[in-house]
Amino acid sequence: NYYALIMAGGVGSRFWPASRTDYPKQFIDFFGVGKTLIQSTYDRFLKVCPPENIFIVTNEIYTDLIKQQLPDLCENQILGEPLLRNTAPCIAYGCLKISELNPDAQIVVAPSDHTISNSEGFLSAINQALKASTENNTLITLGIKPSRADTGYGYIQYTDHNLKSDKDLHKVKTFTEKPNLELAKSFIQSGDFLWNSGIFIWSAKSILSSFEKHLPDMHEIFIAGKNAMNSDREKSFINNAYLQCTNISIDFGIMEKADNVYVLPADFGWSDLGTWASIYDMADKDYVGNVVIPSEHVIMYDSSNCMVNVPKDKLVILRGLHDFVVVENDNILMICPRDEEQKVKEVVADVKSRF
Ligand code: GDD
Ligand code: MG
Repeated sequence: NYYALIMAGGVGSRFWPASRTDYPKQFIDFFGVGKTLIQSTYDRFLKVCPPENIFIVTNEIYTDLIKQQLPDLCENQILGEPLLRNTAPCIAYGCLKISELNPDAQIVVAPSDHTISNSEGFLSAINQALKASTENNTLITLGIKPSRADTGYGYIQYTDHNLKSDKDLHKVKTFTEKPNLELAKSFIQSGDFLWNSGIFIWSAKSILSSFEKHLPDMHEIFIAGKNAMNSDREKSFINNAYLQCTNISIDFGIMEKADNVYVLPADFGWSDLGTWASIYDMADKDYVGNVVIPSEHVIMYDSSNCMVNVPKDKLVILRGLHDFVVVENDNILMICPRDEEQKVKEVVADVKSRF
């Protein structure tokens, strides 16, 4: 009864110019390992459930990319969204569709923009959470020990109240999606907070009843198409349903409000790939701290702590460059100080407004 729903509809604007609206980060092989982020995510789930139980929900403009990168998927396993409406509608759609195939489904919902270095640890946490979600009406998330006051994550305050059947799962007291910096700092100081990994585990029944309770309008919109799911009427139903949906994330829409949320603290080398700095932090560095992907044609003299990501066949020579990001993709070259790359989002918006 185990299923996976992989969300792959985000745009990833801070990775520009490698990540573009028509080619976002989940389709990129950031580490030059021969697998893109979505391929690695898919491969991890092959160990959790049978391949036919893995579904990908994405904007319909990316369905061809998904087919190219994951050729084993059938048409019915790729859920195309007509509009960007954030993660609540995408989860409502995916979980309803899976529930119509198997009402007793236990579903792992996962993002496609993470790296996980310890796959064994990941697998054991997922299996533990799946087991717990079978027996209880719970919404489970995997929690990560925070290392800094990052305002890009959801924060989970947990209690000592445990799930009866599995003492490792803690009842969540508060769930705060993307707090401001001040709040994030106080969370880190208090010590009983974890980051929301964005990986959720629940039964189809529990999540659908949570939609009914906390996002009743959205629930009504989707439930009307119950019988259209997995039929040739699905697409036209979805196209129409999305027009009526509000834009809201699952975190704001459900996780912050629900009182049956449990967290499983987990440690499996999780990293959210949000910016070039996160790639830099994770990647292997040479002895002067440079990360160069791919490295065949990049020659560096007296340069250190740089993050270089350029096309394979490009001859690039750097001299006397320290602490910079150098990225080229599709004939766009961007060079900026490594510690300023949170600003890439603004730069991209400005650049786009000029062309
Ligand atoms: N299909 C689809 N449709 N997927 C989407 C959409 C959408 O409209 N919007 C986002 N996604 C996908 C993204 O591609 C990503 O894989 C995942 O859903 C999460 O979306 P993000 O936009 O990356 O969310 P976030 O990183 O800001 O925040 C979430 O993840 C954090 C951990 O990385 C939240 O769950 C936070 O609470 C959490 O800490
Ligand atoms: Mg993300």
